[in-house]
Amino acid sequence: MSERIQEATIRVEPDAGGTMSGFDGMRAGSIGPTGRPMPEFPIPHPLTAHGPARIIAMCNQKGGVGKTTSTINLGAALAEYGRRVLLLDFDPQGALSVGLGINPHVLEQTVYNLLMERSVDIDDVIRETQVPGMDLLPANIDLSAAEVQLVSEVAREQVLARTLRPITDEYDVILIDCQPSLGLLTVNALTAAHGVIIPLECEFFALRGVALLVETIDKVRDRLNPGLETDGILATMYDPRTLHSREVVARVVEAFGEQVFHTVIGRTVKFPDASVAAEPITTYAASHAGAYAYRLLARELIARGDAA
Ligand SMILES: Nc1ncnc2c1ncn2[C@@H]1O[C@H](COP(=O)(O)OP(=O)(O)OP(=O)(O)O)[C@@H](O)[C@H]1O
Ligand SMILES: [Mg+2]
Repeated sequence: MSERIQEATIRVEPDAGGTMSGFDGMRAGSIGPTGRPMPEFPIPHPLTAHGPARIIAMCNQKGGVGKTTSTINLGAALAEYGRRVLLLDFDPQGALSVGLGINPHVLEQTVYNLLMERSVDIDDVIRETQVPGMDLLPANIDLSAAEVQLVSEVAREQVLARTLRPITDEYDVILIDCQPSLGLLTVNALTAAHGVIIPLECEFFALRGVALLVETIDKVRDRLNPGLETDGILATMYDPRTLHSREVVARVVEAFGEQVFHTVIGRTVKFPDASVAAEPITTYAASHAGAYAYRLLARELIARGDAA
């Protein structure tokens, strides 16, 4: 496994895939796109045993910032490094499921059934993906009903945490793809999670609404989940050719300091292309800068101690 990674990583040339968004500046030792020197993020050691999983919610109530794209590709990169990964689709739109080649609308059982019916066995709902070591808990539009139905449940914020308990020992990382809202489903994700990753699109209004998100995370930490950590802020859709992108990242670093990942994700059409092909970029365009960026993010996450 690690040989394959090494090879894939070394094979990446500075002009692989045309646009080099965010790549040139991400060499160890140089000043990175966040304006700080890039540390070296070593290739992670192979694991000899698996679990218990660290659960990470990918969260931002702003739409279209790269939550789903980051869930798929960070998950695939972690799986390439030998981690056992579960991706949880927690958005009734089912974009994560679709992005992995599953038509969620024909599924009999999804995460909705797990939340609402105690008799459903989680192993019957989990599906393997094309990526070795990476599984999926799919969702579809049924999940939109859960938001309403959960309101009358006892300990309604803890339903997802309880649902995941039987399988956390089988995985190293569980990534939850949240929907763009701060409603009860997202609160359930934050209550089940050990950490949160906040993807931010590099555009002018990126920080609008982040205060409310941080407030929600603080409230969940205070009242429901004292161990909840902010694992990092991830700048996505970064275009190094525009002053604008660089300014947005500089403001994000000003506001959040060391919480901002050194790794940024460049803007490239390869991501929507990979979604159409229903594959992670790490297999769709294995040596593209976008694949490299998510591998680097996986390494950074592991180097920070936020994943095994
Ligand atoms: N780095 C990128 N470069 C270019 N396009 C991207 C990038 N990341 C994501 N996209 C595209 O932007 C769109 C939104 O991305 P994505 O679905 O990941 O966001 P999201 O935050 O999950 O959205 P939603 O809030 O609707 O769930 C998609 O079409 C995706 O292919
Ligand atoms: Mg999404």
